Amino acid sequence: MLRRDLLVVLVTCVALVTARRSPQADSTEKWLKSINTRYSDNVFEDALLDVPDLIRKYRYPVEVHSVTTEDGYILELHRIPHGRDANNVPNQKKPVVFILHGMITSSADYVIMGPGRGLAYILAEEGFDVWMGNARGNYYSRRHVRLDPDSKQSTAFWRFSWDQIGNMDLPAAIDYALKVSGQERLHYVGHSQGSTSFFVLGSMRPEYNDKIISMHALAPVAYMAHNQSPLLQFLAPHATRIESLASLIGIGEFMPSNEFTASFGAKYCHDGSAFQPICSSIMFWMWGSNEDQYNATMTPVILGHAPAGLSIRQPVHYGQGIDAGEFRRYDQGSRLANFREYGSFTPPPYDLSKITAPVYLHYSDSDPFAHVNDVERLYRELGRAIKYKVPMATFSHIDFIYGINAKELVYDSVINIIKDYESTV
Ligand SMILES: *[C@@H]1O[C@H](CO)[C@@H](O)[C@H](O)[C@H]1NC(C)=O
Repeated sequence: MLRRDLLVVLVTCVALVTARRSPQADSTEKWLKSINTRYSDNVFEDALLDVPDLIRKYRYPVEVHSVTTEDGYILELHRIPHGRDANNVPNQKKPVVFILHGMITSSADYVIMGPGRGLAYILAEEGFDVWMGNARGNYYSRRHVRLDPDSKQSTAFWRFSWDQIGNMDLPAAIDYALKVSGQERLHYVGHSQGSTSFFVLGSMRPEYNDKIISMHALAPVAYMAHNQSPLLQFLAPHATRIESLASLIGIGEFMPSNEFTASFGAKYCHDGSAFQPICSSIMFWMWGSNEDQYNATMTPVILGHAPAGLSIRQPVHYGQGIDAGEFRRYDQGSRLANFREYGSFTPPPYDLSKITAPVYLHYSDSDPFAHVNDVERLYRELGRAIKYKVPMATFSHIDFIYGINAKELVYDSVINIIKDYESTV
């Protein structure tokens, strides 16, 4: 237990120390390129390319859009408007699927595993207009009309959790995707925090339920009482104090996109490296993964794209959820501060009964972040959600994204449900 806590502290320190480095610094790029000449392999190239270039490399169409939220954050959306091998006629109106990533990642999650494996490519081939969001604060959405994410004087840019991602990023991104595609409604897929943010949206801005044809929560996270993530469990009892400590020393960003993980991945985690099993163990421990579902060859690519940067308030908000055992808004740290923000001494709970969009919960038996008991409570409180348990008991949290059989075990049923809706529209 103690050793585990120490490891979390260590990881947290490394994350905070690297927090001040600029994303994807030139020196790393040069260094990675020098490796690249030695191992001429897709894995190293794919670790370096950003999402639009990665999509272009595999000859899929890609569009980059930006949208500004009502509170001034500038978000980057990545669109794959049609397929490459099938459903590949441009400028045809297609049903929209909007995808939102989890806590420490980005739109990269849906393309880095490559064509035939990444969810975005599979959906495009199946005839959908695919839009991938990027939450405020990550590598692609680290901009604001007024606030500076790198300011030394103020951490104001970083004062948000997944409450704002659901409450403000999602309305802006969804309205934008609907406007450009000429559609009135869309299908939503969210992994982990991408599902949490949707539950925030549906309960705080219930008018958005009408814009959702179907919602697919991959590894659904709302209630956290049974959460088994070592990082979040460590944060839980100290959650709000860690945030005030971090902002005191001028840090609001957590685990940004950085040269450390990218170069670590390229140097130690590739095929043939004696350290690769250690890299894999760290991944399993940090993120929740099943050894049989994890393709260790892909570690350098994953670490080239994740972590992608987030606010320290995001894990802290989850930590509060473990501590309080409730799914509720961000605890501002004192009764007075809560009263100022919400008009009540404790943070108000999200009212899940307001969510009227059809919700499909795709979950598994051994996911440390979306524990079965917590998913059951979410299911009960949503009232009319439908559960799909992954037919593999050992399937875990990041297997929904990087798992070798994610397509057969998860994506195929998501696509079948979406197609059912489309055939009856
Ligand atoms: C693992 O990834 C490599 C590189 O993309 C790929 O060639 C290989 O087929 C993958 N293995 C499995 C079991 O999917």
